This record gives sequence, structure tokens and C-alpha cells, in this order.
Amino acid sequence: MSLLRSRFLAVVTRCSPCSARASSWWSHVEMGPPDPILGITEAYKRDTSSKKMNLGVGAYRDDNGKPYVLKCVRKAESQISAKNLDKEYLPIAGLADFNKAAAILALGENSDVVKSNRFVTVQSISGTGSLRIGGNFLKRFYNYSCDLYLPKPSWGNHTPIFRDSGLELKGYRYYEPKTCGFDFAGALDDISKIPEQSIILFHACAHNPTGVDPRPEQWKELAAVVKQRKLFPFFDMAYQGFASGDINRDAWAVRYFLEQGINLVLSQSFAKNMGLYGERVGAFTVVCSDTDEAKRVESQLKILIRPMYSNPPVNGARIAATILNSPELRTEWLEEVKGMANRIISMREQLVSNLKKEGSIHNWQHIIDQIGMFCFTGLKPEQVERLTKEFSIYLTKDGRISVAGITSANVGYLAHAIYQVTK
Ligand SMILES: Cc1ncc(COP(=O)(O)O)c(C=O)c1O
Repeated sequence: MSLLRSRFLAVVTRCSPCSARASSWWSHVEMGPPDPILGITEAYKRDTSSKKMNLGVGAYRDDNGKPYVLKCVRKAESQISAKNLDKEYLPIAGLADFNKAAAILALGENSDVVKSNRFVTVQSISGTGSLRIGGNFLKRFYNYSCDLYLPKPSWGNHTPIFRDSGLELKGYRYYEPKTCGFDFAGALDDISKIPEQSIILFHACAHNPTGVDPRPEQWKELAAVVKQRKLFPFFDMAYQGFASGDINRDAWAVRYFLEQGINLVLSQSFAKNMGLYGERVGAFTVVCSDTDEAKRVESQLKILIRPMYSNPPVNGARIAATILNSPELRTEWLEEVKGMANRIISMREQLVSNLKKEGSIHNWQHIIDQIGMFCFTGLKPEQVERLTKEFSIYLTKDGRISVAGITSANVGYLAHAIYQVTK
């Protein structure tokens, strides 16, 4: 027997009993369904049509349909690189300069909460990580209820995030398919019947997937019911600045609730408004009764984070902190966010005017009225299927389109296709 063959046999004999056993450990594991959004992207990639459009994915694209890196981000990166900083671990709660700037961005320069220092903000792994810290924190320390009420519908990942955190998921009416708008009466009615002290989730602005937000007067009534029912609000703010182009306007609801004396928790993401998708920059804030409570809460958040991922990544937080804390870069950023929001608003208007040009007699006003990256078109699943099969236009079955995926060059084609499947 050659040396090589005898070595080979020795390896096989050593490994095979072990691999035979190992292969049976997971025989009961069933194939899980593919992620609905990533599945769309896969199908889009396989399509060879030159007219194909991917309106499934929620990431901003410029008017050439290309991913966009903000100029202020590039500048912040070169400033950081020039400093030759080390790559040491961050503290468990993240970069202090980033945390403070993120909290002030959300709560406002003149926030009473900030002035009296009765909050704690920890850096998180983007919005998703922040929601997960929040879910785990509430499960461990919110003594009054495990029930979390989500708007119907809500972002698809909310359910698994909070279910995996151990919370019980319930819902309240939010979207009215007849008007493609906010079901204000339904929401108020449902919320007023939620058992006291339950947790309720609100999208701070640019509701995903519907693009439907309450108006300020409606937020006021929602806040009054929340206060009256002693509900505990969890605000998910994934799109500050991205909805209207104005960071203060988009934070209005959160700040209004705080002005009413309603303490809340808040999740922030810098994926969309700074285009830092892959950098995973986010923050989680707990508004407390006083500084002492905030310190105790912070200590427990650290205990919770430490076994999850020890401490957050440094690079994206440095970029966001550099932008937020430098007056010039911050001004440039605000302009760029406005530019992104305006491009989306303009695409909504162009889509509607092109639908009219095609001869569509439907009322498409909701496309203009809805806000943020997404639009709930009201298209039925069979119409969505036709858009994909006949026109190579990819979107989720619920008729949601990412308006950021539309460009001046393809808006006419999209309007034509929508007209064909809805006439
Ligand atoms: C409503 C909402 N919350 C949170 C997120 C979290 O995103 P990320 O983890 O990329 O910051 C998203 C992203 O699409 C979202 O739409």
C-alpha cells in the first residue's frame, strides 16, 4: 500500500464514524422559506430583460439606478483616515460622541429630556439591532406586560425580532385598503381597547411598508389615548430626514409624545438617512424619570449587550459622529438627505402624471400622499404577478414598491406597465 493511500484510509477511518453521527444531528431540521425580499432580488438577477426593474429592495438609488454614497460620508471617511486611529474595542455601550449626537438628533436640541439628562442611549447594530436590544430589555425589565401591539401591517422583521425577544405580539388597525391611507378611526378604536400598560409600537415617520403616516393632529389624539390607557410606546425611527427631507419634521411625533410627559423607548437607524446600510449604525434610547434611573438602566443595558455581541463596530459610528458633530459636514448632510427625499417625492409625482398620460382613470393620489421610501400601490397579487411576468418589474406581492428604485429613465415604463395591468 502506498504511503499516500494508507494516510488517506487513516483519515477516512478516523472521520467517518464521526461524520455519520454528525449528519444525523440535524435530520429533523426542515428547509425554511426564503426571505421574501431577497427572493425577489434573486429572481430579478436571473431576468435577462433590459427593461427589468427591482422595486423590492429598500435601499436608496440615485437617478441612474445606482447605490449612492453621500459626499459627507466620503469626507468624514477621509477625515477619520487622516487621524490614523487605532482599532481598539469600543465600550459596551458604543462610541459616546455618537450616542449623544444621535439622541440629540432625535429628541431635539432643546429637549427637556436631554437638558435634564434623564435618558440613556446605547449604540446598536443598526435599527434591527436596536429593536432587538429594546425587545430583550422590555422582556427582562418591563414588569407590567409582555404584550406588544404592532400596526397592521408593520415592517416584516418586527414580528420575528420581538417574538424572538420573548414578547407576545398583537396588532392594531392601521392601514385602510379602500383609501390606501391611514385608518385613523380604526387605529383609535383599537388602541383605546388595548389593555392598560401594554407596549405599543409606532413607526416615527415613513411607515414601512405602507408609506402612510398619521398627520400631526392625528398623532395628538393617538398620544392622548396612549396616555389615558397608560400604554408604553416603542418608537421605531428608521427614516429620520428621509421622509420629508427635514429631520425635525420627521421627529415631530416622538418629540410631541415626550412633551406630553410620555416616557418612551426609541430605536434609530442611520442606514437610510446617511446611506450607511452595511456599516450597521444605530442607537437605542430609553427615556427615564431622572438621571439616577437612567444610570441604572444603562448598567442593565450593558449587561444585556455584553453576551449578545460584546461591543458594537467602530467604523460606522465614527462616520456618523463625525458628520453629526462637525457643523460643515452636518450642513452638507442635511442638504443631501433633503436631496434624497426630494428625488423620491418627485418620482411619486412623475409616476402619477405618467399614469394619467397613459390614460389611467384610477385615483392614484395616494402615491403622492404616502411618504418615504415605500409606496403601497393598492395593486392586487395577480396584478403584481403580471407586472413581473409580462414586464420584468419586481415587487412584493402586497403591492409595495420601493420608490427609490424608480428613475427618470424608467418611470414612464413603470407607469405604462401599471396601466396595462390595471385598466
Ligand atoms: C421600519 C423599519 N425599522 C427598522 C429597520 C432596520 O433597518 P436596519 O437594521 O438596516 O437599520 C427598517 C429597515 O428597512 C425599517 O424599515
